[in-house]
Amino acid sequence: MIIKVCIGSSCHLKGSREVVEKFQDLIQENKLEDEIKLVGKFCMGQCQKGVNVTIDDLTISVDRDEIEEVFNQYVKGKLKPNE
Ligand code: FES
Repeated sequence: MIIKVCIGSSCHLKGSREVVEKFQDLIQENKLEDEIKLVGKFCMGQCQKGVNVTIDDLTISVDRDEIEEVFNQYVKGKLKPNE
């Protein structure tokens, strides 16, 4: 699974760095380092929406408060559906 976080200037201002750090923590906590690649991505052309993130084919905008929820639903939910 590949998670890409937009690090373009608009998303950067909205906190993409914190989003990356939070994803990193969650990946480590859940010991998913071997299964998830976390990378930065340049502007996705949807700056008005917030910090844009793609999780495989899915593109979503996340607020820093929503990361854990998004992680549980779209990342853990997909990789470890029974937990
Ligand atoms: S800066 Fe993130 S979509 Fe444009």
